[in-house]
Amino acid sequence: MSLRSNDRQWGSVAKTFHWIIALAILGNGTFGLLMDEASSPMQKINWLALHKSIGLTVLALFLLRVLWRLGDRRPPEEPAPRWQQLAAHLTHGVLYLLIAAIPLSGWWFNSVTGKPLQWFKLFNVPALAAKNDDLTHFAQGLHEYLFWFLILVLVAHVGAALKHHVFDRDNVLRRMLPFSRPHNDSTPRGNS
Ligand code: HEM
Ligand code: HEM
Repeated sequence: MSLRSNDRQWGSVAKTFHWIIALAILGNGTFGLLMDEASSPMQKINWLALHKSIGLTVLALFLLRVLWRLGDRRPPEEPAPRWQQLAAHLTHGVLYLLIAAIPLSGWWFNSVTGKPLQWFKLFNVPALAAKNDDLTHFAQGLHEYLFWFLILVLVAHVGAALKHHVFDRDNVLRRMLPFSRPHNDSTPRGNS
């Protein structure tokens, strides 16, 4: 498998970005929701610090992924009605926005609460905004609801991937899976 994407499948770099970010964002969101289960205030502080560091890492991976994607090509689209291709583009665009917006909203939330921020205890990260008690409630809600919105969009995204695999029997899912090889018998159409 080559590093770059080609006519038949996504390259290993694009696949690695896709699956690491998918796992990290879903894992970190679940972690965020379970934070109140901490057995002591000290454990909660440690969990929160880990949650924030993982989240900032997702933001950095997002930037690297976008840079890579700008220089990479994408495999040609499988034949599908025009509206489905448009819906896929829209969904992918929204997913990219959410990968950035969720950690950014967490960073903003942390800033308006006036709490310090570090990346894995290695270095300090500056605040995005000044402390502002009037905004903390809104910022927390925004951070949480963006995550729930991601889950909603993901239902459509995963549903579409499974529809391609099970009903259309094309290569859309196979060519994004880590160790899978696409079939030969599909006729690619167009490119974007
Ligand atoms: C992968 C990225 C991230 C995801 C998916 C995510 C998701 C979540 C979720 C679902 C919650 C629970 C919301 C609630 O119960 O109020 C949460 C809480 C929180 N997140 Fe994030 N977050 C991410 C990144 C960040 C970052 C980068 C920061 C700060 C720099 C951050 C700061 C916080 C804080 C302070 C809380 C509140 C925890 C509490 O007080 O219970 N998050 N996050
Ligand atoms: C939070 C989790 C996920 C996020 C944020 C996400 C995001 C994305 C994005 C942004 C793309 C567009 C890639 C590009 O054009 O550069 C994409 C493609 C893709 N994703 Fe996901 N994804 C997630 C989870 C999943 C899961 C669980 C599956 C499978 C069941 C999946 C299957 C696919 C497939 C097959 C493609 C390629 C579509 C094509 O070739 O046109 N994704 N994903």
